[in-house]
Formats: sequence, C-alpha cells, structure tokens
Amino acid sequence: MSVLVTGGAGYIGSHMVLGLLDRGEEVVVLDNLSTGFDFCIASQAHFVQGDIGDTALVARLLKEHKVTAIAHFAASLLVAESVREPLTYYANNTARTRDLIEVALRADVPHFLFSSTAAVYGMAGDKPVQENAPLNPLSPYGRSKLMSEHMLADVSEAHGLAYAALRYFNVAGADPQGRSGESTFNSTHLVKIAMETVLGKRPGMQIFGTDYPTPDGTAIRDYIHVTDLIAAHMAALDYLRAGKGNLTANVGYGRGFSVRQVLDVVEQATGLPLNVAEGPRRAGDPASIVADSGYLRQATGWEPQYDDLPAIAEHAFAWEQYLSRRNR
Ligand code: UFG
Repeated sequence: MSVLVTGGAGYIGSHMVLGLLDRGEEVVVLDNLSTGFDFCIASQAHFVQGDIGDTALVARLLKEHKVTAIAHFAASLLVAESVREPLTYYANNTARTRDLIEVALRADVPHFLFSSTAAVYGMAGDKPVQENAPLNPLSPYGRSKLMSEHMLADVSEAHGLAYAALRYFNVAGADPQGRSGESTFNSTHLVKIAMETVLGKRPGMQIFGTDYPTPDGTAIRDYIHVTDLIAAHMAALDYLRAGKGNLTANVGYGRGFSVRQVLDVVEQATGLPLNVAEGPRRAGDPASIVADSGYLRQATGWEPQYDDLPAIAEHAFAWEQYLSRRNR
C-alpha cells in the first residue's frame, strides 16, 4: 500500500512526502521537475520523473506500488501568469486532473486528495470566509482549480471515489527540521520574496498597494505554516480512510496579517533590514482574505501547531540560508 504524491518535488508536495514518511507510509513521487527540485524529495520516497499527463506511466505506478491514495499537487499556480496564458492553466490544472482522476478510477484507487485554493472565492469581504461563500474566482488559475473541484464531486457521485479538496490560504514557512522549503525560482509569494531580499538575492522589493481599506492600507492575508497545512492533509486522509465521506474545507488559521506586519516580522525574525518601496496595487489582488477553518477542525480534529508568524519567518529564513549555501 502506498500514496502517490504528484508534484512531490514542489514546495507543498515535498512537505507532503515528508509528512507521509514521518508517519510510516510508503510514498511514490511523480514529478516532471518543471518547477520542483529533486533535492527537495526525501530519499526514502520512490521518485519517478515524469508527467501526470502520461496516463500509461501513472497507470503502471498505481498498479506496481499498490497505490490506495493519490495526493495531487502537480499544478501551475501563478495567478498573473494564468491571466496571460489561460490555456496552460486549463491544460495543466483542469485537463490533467481529469486524466489523473480517470486513471485513478480505472485502477480502483479509493481516495484522492486535491490541492485547491482560496482563489476559488474571489473577493471575499473582510469576514473570515466559510466554504459555503459564493465561488467567483477572479482568475483562470482559480477557475481551473474550481473546475477540478466540480469534476471530483461529479465523479464521486457517479463512481464513489472519496475525495478531499483543501482550499489553501497563504502557505508560507518551511519544514521545522530544515528538510525542505520553498525553492521555486521567481516566486511571487510575499514571505519568500522578503527572505530573498533580506539575503541580498534581490536588490529590493515592493509593497503592492498602500491604499487598501485596511488598518495600515496594505492587503491582509491568512498566512499558514506549510507543516500545519500538511497536518491538515493527514487529517483529511484519515477522514477519507475512515469512510466519513468527502471533504471540501478551507485551510488557514482564521486571522490575517497585513503586508506591512509580515515585513516587520521578517525584519525582526532575521535581524536584517529589508529594502522596501511602496508601489501600486497588483492587479487582481483582493484587499483581504482570511479563512474560517472551523469546519476542518470540527470534521477532522485538525489542530495547528505553528500559528505563529515569527516561527513561519524563522523556518523560511533557515531554508533560504540553506539555498544560499547551495548557491541558490
Ligand atoms: N505582495 C507584496 N509584494 C510582493 C509580493 C506580494 O506586497 O513582492 C503582497 C500581495 O500584493 C498580497 C500579499 O503580499 O497582498 C500576498 O501575496 P502572495 O503573492 O504571497 O499571495 P496571494 O495572496 O496573492 O496568493 C495566494 C496564493 C495563490 C492563491 C491566493 C488565494 O499564492 O496561489 O493566495 O487568495 F490563489
């Protein structure tokens, strides 16, 4: 019995691999290394370099490794890029997920974990958003993920596949033991950019918008430690295995920090000054989005351990320093 992790060389997927191995599960990683890195994959996992669109390869892996659950992370994830290249997003995120689900059904894989996003909500207002809020994604990225959620629901109804779709808020930080972290080139994520800036890998950075209707004028997000996000996946997997049905749930902490607050914490946690300029708003950014993750807690018993922005910054910094030692 094993779990197939697609995109297991990427930021979140590599932490999923660690989380599964830490609790003694067998893991097969399928990743085409288009944006991931083999040095992020734990050596105890069985790694296959390949594409999830290669259905013959996926079918073979499911059979050979007796896969009983798929954790599907392989995706394109840049909102702005999705606006410029929508078909890439509908291909990589929607069409490939469709093919993966079909192969999973043929191989009688009973459980499917899907990496969804807060981007399915679009403008959410200033209250923590619940799962039953209107789904109006603002970008092809958000729509490509929402379509996959709809497919999973339809397939579950028709064929009985049990799935969990977890809607991630702003994932940040790195493995507390320093085994993986966000390694992506040209990341657009605030904490990652701030870490690269304090370490001089970027000459400076900008705050995108200082005129939002928020207390300090900068945008508010719900930053969640990647290790807590993975704990949510373990809780979701246990939920599926216990036969409790399907699960669509937000994963965040239910509180937000502004861009300025995040950058202040980065300076404090690293002890290094940040070269920051104020810039215009980034197109498509909501002023504020914070998760209500009460449903996930109540349904699965998930309890986060790292709801602490300084810890998120410290772990991200340690990983960024490791990347520097690798000349990255
Ligand atoms: N920001 C800056 N400067 C930067 C980078 C980001 O001010 O150099 C700001 C953004 O404008 C935003 C906040 O920091 O207000 C967070 O930005 P990120 O790019 O880190 O994250 P987003 O909230 O834009 O996006 C995240 C995920 C997406 C997901 C989205 C859902 O990365 O995949 O949440 O809301 F779709």
